[in-house]
Amino acid sequence: MHGQNITSRIWIIVLLIFINESLQTIALHSSYMETVKQWNLLSYNFPWDYPVANKDFYNAENVVATGIEVGYDLIFLATPRLFAGVPATLSSISRNSHGDSPILEAYPSWSHHRSGTNDYNCTDIGLVSVYRVRIDSCNRLWALDAGVSRSLEDFEISCPPKILIYDLYTNQVVRRIDFPTEVIRGESLFTNIIVDETTSKKENHCDDVFVYITDTVAPGIVVYDSEKDLTWRLSHPAMYPDPDFAESTILEHRFTLMDGVVGMAFDPESAILYFQPLATDRLFSVSTASLRIGPLGFGKELPVKLVGRKSSQGIGLAAAPLGGTIFYSPLSETAIASWNPRTNEHRYLKHSNKLTVAYSLKIRKEFSSLQICVRLNEMALLSTY
Ligand SMILES: *[C@@H]1O[C@H](CO)[C@@H](O)[C@H](O)[C@H]1NC(C)=O
Repeated sequence: MHGQNITSRIWIIVLLIFINESLQTIALHSSYMETVKQWNLLSYNFPWDYPVANKDFYNAENVVATGIEVGYDLIFLATPRLFAGVPATLSSISRNSHGDSPILEAYPSWSHHRSGTNDYNCTDIGLVSVYRVRIDSCNRLWALDAGVSRSLEDFEISCPPKILIYDLYTNQVVRRIDFPTEVIRGESLFTNIIVDETTSKKENHCDDVFVYITDTVAPGIVVYDSEKDLTWRLSHPAMYPDPDFAESTILEHRFTLMDGVVGMAFDPESAILYFQPLATDRLFSVSTASLRIGPLGFGKELPVKLVGRKSSQGIGLAAAPLGGTIFYSPLSETAIASWNPRTNEHRYLKHSNKLTVAYSLKIRKEFSSLQICVRLNEMALLSTY
């Protein structure tokens, strides 16, 4: 993420929770979580003639997964270009791969990851830096490309941000969304994406969804109406970092990160979007109706609510598809916790020294229970029964 003053290398995790049981069952059985896959460092299946020894091209210690999605047969990892040395920003592994340290395949092919080369043109079909991806119910992968290279080093704006939608049956780009310049700010960093299908009609094949996007460095939420192809930008003080929470502590590491809104979760039952800046102990909500209505009129304020306070800062956030439970990961506690604002029930699901920064929390109902953790020098894929 974007920070001025990282005093030590931050551990990184991507976490995914799959459920096929009630959330309560998960909470009760959390001690049965086990690691089913882990990595020391991420490595790629490179073409034979790639300059793998060049650290500016590939530096395994700089490849950090912040986003994860699971398809029918592939698991997708988003590895943004936080530093130099990230050869591909979106990759896949087979869901059935055996053994640890599965090798990443650039997705859909290496030709989509040429942004670091001299002859790359931003109008080409390719990706610069992807923090998070989402799969919609039409089996299409939405890749949100921030367009910024080396965001933790020199923050080079390589290309404007965009979305590429891949059809996972054909692995072809079926739609490209370029954002109008009025929703982009000089320091924009688009990091997270929610695809809201609650009013989508089956015959429209997911081309009538609403999309909510976090701008973490120039804090705001960008809304895209994919049916009308309209985009607008909304902002609120709750999306900004709180200077009192600029310093985070994880295990023995202390670092300063003044990131704005980055965690987002969507509760489709109550049509509420939850969000949190990194530098805060607070969790906020806003109704999707108020996001969908369009740009704010002059003097109008977005009806953001304070949902509650957490024990420490966090990034990853998820909401259960039913029941309203929110999952979050307080950084200092290196844990995964859940909280139901309707019943005020709190639970600790998992504590681990391996679970440091949960960059992404996801819940999928349709697969067996599974949890994935990724961090900088070690990544683990956990499973819970
Ligand atoms: C990029 O490609 C577009 C479309 O092919 C072209 O119009 C433009 O001049 C190219 N830009 C550069 C810098 O080559």
